[in-house]
Amino acid sequence: MATKIPTITLNNGAKTPSIGYGTCQALDEELEKALEKALEAGYRHIDTAYVYQNEKVIGKVLKRWINDGKLKREDIFLVTKLPHAGNRPEGVVKYLKRSLENLQVEYIDLYLIHGPYGLPDFEGDFPPKDSNGNIILDMSTDHIAIWKAMEEQVDAGLAKAIGLSNFNKSQIERILKNSRIKPSALQIELHAFLQQNELVGLCKENNILVIAHSPLGNPGVNKIAEKLGQKTDHPDILGNPTVKAIAKKHSKTEAQVLLRFSVQQGWLPIPKSVNPERIKQNLDIFGFQLDKQDVNELKSLDADITVLDYRRFKGVENHPEFPFKDRIKTKN
Ligand code: A2P
Repeated sequence: MATKIPTITLNNGAKTPSIGYGTCQALDEELEKALEKALEAGYRHIDTAYVYQNEKVIGKVLKRWINDGKLKREDIFLVTKLPHAGNRPEGVVKYLKRSLENLQVEYIDLYLIHGPYGLPDFEGDFPPKDSNGNIILDMSTDHIAIWKAMEEQVDAGLAKAIGLSNFNKSQIERILKNSRIKPSALQIELHAFLQQNELVGLCKENNILVIAHSPLGNPGVNKIAEKLGQKTDHPDILGNPTVKAIAKKHSKTEAQVLLRFSVQQGWLPIPKSVNPERIKQNLDIFGFQLDKQDVNELKSLDADITVLDYRRFKGVENHPEFPFKDRIKTKN
């Protein structure tokens, strides 16, 4: 039996399950198998993006489930994202139509602008780089003009809801002041070590759903380094003693504690996993409750530590809309 997942109502009136399945980093056959397991387990909110290069596989699996009568389109809450290379008004409809075709659907439940800085429109691996390894940027990104084009996709019925990802507070405020259709969601990195209270507060005040990517702190980076015998400065949230103690107290895994914390904070976590047991385990978080003391202890782990290392994108901070100037170095 698939797990029954509580729902959250968005500001457009649509409902989404309160936990989703993250697909960033998974591709091809590995993702095809994992998504089968995720749907069997009961995930119905699926998160992808044009730049993840996995929309076609997701479309194939969803189509199969729909054709087999195991699923109706409206049972799924599908999220995808406008790539940075499409961050201009004419890019919105171009890339949204590509995503619809890849995913083999007529509409997207939630279409997000993937990030606030723009890249030139290019085909190829993300990100485009010059001969010195610097990311090639399009400095002319105009959020208000892009947002108008996003609103037109709602009018056209191609996106049921629209939102943002990786935008900072002042960028969101500017969109809120200059929009006809308000953003329904903000997807950001969010976990015990990076709780972003101010940004989350702004979203709550404006009825914007907060989606937490990397809710486990993306521990895969540590596992790879361990296998290669390499040292890494990647934070280890699953290994944190407070998280471990709370997991022991509830006879749950560290991951379940972190995901339960996300849900209790009102965030919608989208953990990634390609492992069938962990896929199931991550959904099994609705039969227990963290108490006030647990929550306070987890809140106290907030240390502005990010796992998404922007140093990978050399020179990205030079873009006028780069959102996290203070976060260009991973603090650890
Ligand atoms: P795997 O696919 O082998 O399960 P995040 O969503 O925070 O970015 O984390 C994703 C990473 O966390 C993946 O490497 C995934 O590896 C691992 N992961 C997912 N679920 C669990 C879990 N329950 N316990 C430990 N690691 C997990």
